[in-house]
Amino acid sequence: MKHSSLVTKLVATFAMVVTIGYILIAVVLSLWFQNYFLERNRTDLEETAKLASSSVPLYLNKEIDDTELMRNLSLVKGVDRGDILLVDASGYIFFVTNEAYNSLVFTRFTFPDRERLVEGNSIEINGEVNPITKEEMSLFIQPIEHNGVYQGALVVYTPLGSIREPLYSIYLRIWTITAMAVIFSTLFIYYVAQRMLFKPLVELNTIARKISKGEVTQRVLVTSSDEIGQLSESFNTMAESLEQTDKNRRDFLSNISHELRSPITSIRGFIAGILDGIIPMDKENYYLKIVYDEIQRLTRLVNDLLDLSAMESGKFSFKLTELDINEIVKVCIARFETKVEDKGLKVNVTLEGDHLYAAGDRDRLIQVITNLVDNAIKHCPDNGDIRVQTRSKGKKVHVSVYNDGTPIDDHDLKYIWDRFYKGDKSRTNKVSTGLGLPIVRNIITQFGEDIWVENKGQGVIFTFTLSMT
Ligand SMILES: Nc1ncnc2c1ncn2[C@@H]1O[C@H](COP(=O)(O)OP(=O)(O)O)[C@@H](O)[C@H]1O
Ligand SMILES: [Mg+2]
Repeated sequence: MKHSSLVTKLVATFAMVVTIGYILIAVVLSLWFQNYFLERNRTDLEETAKLASSSVPLYLNKEIDDTELMRNLSLVKGVDRGDILLVDASGYIFFVTNEAYNSLVFTRFTFPDRERLVEGNSIEINGEVNPITKEEMSLFIQPIEHNGVYQGALVVYTPLGSIREPLYSIYLRIWTITAMAVIFSTLFIYYVAQRMLFKPLVELNTIARKISKGEVTQRVLVTSSDEIGQLSESFNTMAESLEQTDKNRRDFLSNISHELRSPITSIRGFIAGILDGIIPMDKENYYLKIVYDEIQRLTRLVNDLLDLSAMESGKFSFKLTELDINEIVKVCIARFETKVEDKGLKVNVTLEGDHLYAAGDRDRLIQVITNLVDNAIKHCPDNGDIRVQTRSKGKKVHVSVYNDGTPIDDHDLKYIWDRFYKGDKSRTNKVSTGLGLPIVRNIITQFGEDIWVENKGQGVIFTFTLSMT
């Protein structure tokens, strides 16, 4: 399973860290227990040994006999596991609790640190080999005092094993719990990683594959608000924009097909009519004129499309230079002289100063203003007003084109910049392509400037900005 590697890595890392942590805790616990246990063992031994040794002077003074001494010595803690030797002041062993040690009686016992003992301190030695059993022993030596005088010593032999045994059982418990904790934590993190990381990632991956195969309507289910959830949301947003792009592409294609089909159909119809002789000779010129207009329209459409596509792929080259925007406006207005006269329009041009300089590309600016003025004339009623204005505002130049006419529907306002959008839904308007405003906006955007539209009084006003040089 190659895609489980992330989870495996995570779980392995986690397990490692957890194991190290638990082992550290276990080691500290074990050491602590060992210290505590040995310390307690020693104090117990010391206390009971002190108590028992107090009966030794009585024995030496013959106030108690062997049996009673034996009984008192058996009170020493842990003596059931070990053996006791009694040593007199001159270092000779004179009493043993275990017969096995009988051979040692009346031999000298060599103390490792007699001075300390005489001073009244007990001594503890670990790892001494028992002379009789040859086992490893813990040796505990308690001085015997009577009226402040050193009388000898009480030596307790305990096999090291018997001291360590209970400690081992504690170790065993500590380490079993540690091992179990490691196993459970690892299983738990595996489960959590599986649920929180692995599953959502696999789902994201699956959906991504589907989308790349064209199923752009696929979405992932967002179940958390963590980073994975955020990723899923971003993913869905991306999928949405892909879907939108896909839809735009489809719409665009269907729009183009539609725009191309109607002129081609009418061209074909008229030409067929002329060829078949259905159209009388004397009307041929009239119909050829219509065909010519249709071809003009097709040419315009194709040119606009090429312009748009060039702009969108960034191939449209333009140079920003310093231009006199007043002069460009005058040039554009002059081009519409006949149209203006035909409709009996009043054109009011208000230009700031003699010259107003701004940065732009001459041909593109002419295209923009021509498009706006063309729209204004188209949507202006006969004998209406058109106002074109240039004016500086801070570091910007505002150019606006106003025309009388019905205001644009609020609902339509945001669509007029879309390709192929035409307010006139019947599409009877043969001069409309719905590509003018998208081209205008594209050019202005590439200049790094802004364009907007407002309904103003009895008409519509388009305004765009340019930067002063
Ligand atoms: N001056 C205007 N007044 C009212 N509506 C306008 C004006 N300019 C543009 N429009 C609306 O925006 C639409 C798109 O304009 P445009 O992209 O230039 O395409 P076209 O001029 O080919 O119709 C027009 O069909 C019209 O509905
Ligand atoms: Mg137009």
